[in-house]
Amino acid sequence: MSTFPKNFLWGGATAANQLEGGYNLDGKGLSTADMVKFVPKNISKGKNTEVVSYQTVNEILHGLHKNEYYPKREGSHFYEHYKEDIALMAEMGFKCFRMSISWPRIYPTGEEKVPNEEGLKFYDNVFNELLKYNIEPLVTLSHYETPLNLALKYNGWQSRELIDLFIKYAKTCLTRYKDKVKYWIAFNEINMSLNVPYSGAAIFIEKTCNPNSATFQALHHQFVASALVKKISKKINPNFKIGSMVGMSLFYPYTNSPKDVLLTQNANRINYFFFDVLSKGIYPSYAKKYFRKNKINIKIEYDDLEIINKNTVDFNSFSYYYSNCTGEKINKKDKILAFLPEQKRYDEFHPEKIRNNSLEITDWGFQIDPIGLRIAINEIWDRYRKPIFITENGLGTYDILTSDKKIHDDYRIKYLKEHIDQIGKCIDEGIPVIGYTSWGCIDIVSAGTSERSKRYGYIYVDADDYGQGTWKRYKKDSFYWYKKVIESNGNVL
Ligand code: BG6
Repeated sequence: MSTFPKNFLWGGATAANQLEGGYNLDGKGLSTADMVKFVPKNISKGKNTEVVSYQTVNEILHGLHKNEYYPKREGSHFYEHYKEDIALMAEMGFKCFRMSISWPRIYPTGEEKVPNEEGLKFYDNVFNELLKYNIEPLVTLSHYETPLNLALKYNGWQSRELIDLFIKYAKTCLTRYKDKVKYWIAFNEINMSLNVPYSGAAIFIEKTCNPNSATFQALHHQFVASALVKKISKKINPNFKIGSMVGMSLFYPYTNSPKDVLLTQNANRINYFFFDVLSKGIYPSYAKKYFRKNKINIKIEYDDLEIINKNTVDFNSFSYYYSNCTGEKINKKDKILAFLPEQKRYDEFHPEKIRNNSLEITDWGFQIDPIGLRIAINEIWDRYRKPIFITENGLGTYDILTSDKKIHDDYRIKYLKEHIDQIGKCIDEGIPVIGYTSWGCIDIVSAGTSERSKRYGYIYVDADDYGQGTWKRYKKDSFYWYKKVIESNGNVL
């Protein structure tokens, strides 16, 4: 008998800005993601952990250069290929497909009174196609993008106006698709705003890595918006299931010194802070202390806290790719500079990341740690006691398309197998994990580096970092492997 429940939601995950393309078709407005250009670099080859290709916020908002290439405008041409792509997912036996709706496809500037019917129709078509194969859509309303106009005019989520504008958009989607979509997430990896200024929930703040009031003010607006999505959703369809989505950056102590253990506990609170607000409905006391210590002042309006408290999520979801270590005494060469260059110092919300030498790392410096996924699931279950959905996990790496059009990605199969095995162990212990959507089930543009050569998929898309290629789809070895996993409901890994 399978460890995995009969109705387990096996599938894959994507995001509109990395997958769709068609950035200016059928009335779509520009999104912040459309402004992220491709920056060629050499460092990702050869296990380098530094990422240097980030544009400044100012460049993203104002830097339209004729000769630059903007990969997220093209994605993987899903806009034209969605039928073929969904048929391939169905062939693998997908039960669930996580995708996002592009806000500016529905409200091009974010401020229109009436939504863009062409945009709404596109998602009707996508959902119809999924439902034709009994694939359950899981929809993120905001996955690393915001209408560009709102970023420019309001400084994005720093302004309270964004709450109403987002809720107008959310209401449109929840109402239109109420009989087609049951599972919803308001914001992808809501915690990433602390690390990546433009992709992290599209909060536009220069040097967001500093603990500043603007960052947390913007986050507060997103917390209120998340709770309001939950509130209005139940009126539209009481069967809706609304989830949190946090990027789990799990920390281990670098040494067994109590100080390192304490630092680690603090570091892991970065994740728990977000779950505490979204799933428990409270601002935890350690966050309040952090705000006091760092002179962070957030404007909280009269009933914000009550809204947050009364409208918590139905399930918790998170992405998991790797674990890190943190500690007091750091050997310089073991430091991982994972995000922006200014993120150099330690504080509770920005811990130092140290290489764990017992783990292998990917070409992009992600430390491979399947047991970490089990630890993360255990932690989230023990703390929040709500069903858990693993909404992202996977191996981003180079793939080779052979002359006979095959992709022998045994490395990916190994990574996924070991992670799924750990999920099985959690379920075996009685933890209600309800689904697993591995990241980038079809190759898409990288969120972090805008590369296309960092591939996660079971389905290969023949296009390079500059969009050169046939765009044909090819099944990787992992495609056939995952099909068997789903067919056997996780019995055959
Ligand atoms: C998650 C994001 O952080 O990680 C995805 O939700 C992203 O959008 C994924 O693509 C993998 O990161 P990257 O940078 O390899 O694309």
